[in-house]
Amino acid sequence: MTLEPILVTGATGFIGRALARSLAARGLETTCLVRSAERGTRLLPHPECRVVEVPSFEPAAVLHEAVAGRAPRTVFHLAASGVAQGDRDPGQLVAGNVSLLADLLAAAADWPVARFIHVGSCAEYGERTEPLDEDAPLAPTSLYGAAKAAATLLGRPLAKQLGVPLLVLRPFGVFGPGEAPRRLLPHLLAKLTAGEDVPLTPGDQERDFLYVGDVVRALFTAASTDGLDEGIFNVCSGIARPVRDVALAVAEAVGRPASALRFGAQPARPDEAPRIVGDGRRFEAATSWRPRFDLDEGLARSVAAWREGRWEEEPTGLLDDEP
Ligand SMILES: NC(=O)c1ccc[n+]([C@@H]2O[C@H](COP(=O)([O-])OP(=O)(O)OC[C@H]3O[C@@H](n4cnc5c(N)ncnc54)[C@H](OP(=O)(O)O)[C@@H]3O)[C@@H](O)[C@H]2O)c1
Repeated sequence: MTLEPILVTGATGFIGRALARSLAARGLETTCLVRSAERGTRLLPHPECRVVEVPSFEPAAVLHEAVAGRAPRTVFHLAASGVAQGDRDPGQLVAGNVSLLADLLAAAADWPVARFIHVGSCAEYGERTEPLDEDAPLAPTSLYGAAKAAATLLGRPLAKQLGVPLLVLRPFGVFGPGEAPRRLLPHLLAKLTAGEDVPLTPGDQERDFLYVGDVVRALFTAASTDGLDEGIFNVCSGIARPVRDVALAVAEAVGRPASALRFGAQPARPDEAPRIVGDGRRFEAATSWRPRFDLDEGLARSVAAWREGRWEEEPTGLLDDEP
């Protein structure tokens, strides 16, 4: 199945960057829509990555001009506002999730799109302790989750009306090289490798962790599997692990004692869900995809990337990466 030309939004973000670089490393012609050409060119330094700055996703003429001569067959839509926890202005969440998807779908109706992959989130479901499958009710507890759910709810009928084949993938807790400094893993790595102690919450909450390389492969698999033209699919490991396991594994890998992790020194967030774990059987049944790396293997790769100064450069070429 021919994927090219490919369009990626959110290519300056954590997952989008890994995806765009991996597509480019495979020699696939990829146009990346970015908000800052300077940032995009710096983060996506590959000849196959064509970086195009667009101030906004509307009017559609802006997007048509951005892809001129390369109207996409495959769209990977990863741009989203509010992924960072502090970044939760309601107006921006609506604009950067719901409107962004609607505007991109409207433009895509004029392109020869064979597959439009919208990246949703486990945050669309909200809090439930049992494994979340795709039929779980949408009951988001955060504004970000609500905006992501609203984008999916609006996007699916809109895509149908416009004749755009839309797949929604909902990743669970993605981690790995390239994560922004504010996030748990790089925060742990920075503090522990500097010889500092790390004040943490008790870390009892359980999460479903997925290595970024596996998410990139899931996106690629979703785009290239015949017959997968619409639907919603969780992308997850299906395994719940306490967050404290991440801290303990990182401390051990960098040679610091567990006592450097001051569990309980920070209060647990009152709105912290005790357990979020996905049921990924629908996607696994529909495709050949399985996670290749478990939490411990993904953390080992992440620690190696940090130590070798490859945090920003990695991951690339994940699609060809053998275990
Ligand atoms: N990280 C996770 O654990 C996780 C889990 C489940 C789902 N997801 C989903 O996966 C996707 C990518 O997440 P990520 O972790 O890579 O996020 P990220 O690092 O925060 O990147 C977000 C990307 O979206 C762009 N963006 C934000 N607001 C925008 C707007 N209003 N207009 C155009 N572009 C905008 C950002 O551009 P700038 O660089 O210009 O800011 C950046 O490229 C998102 O849809 C997210 O909801 C992530």
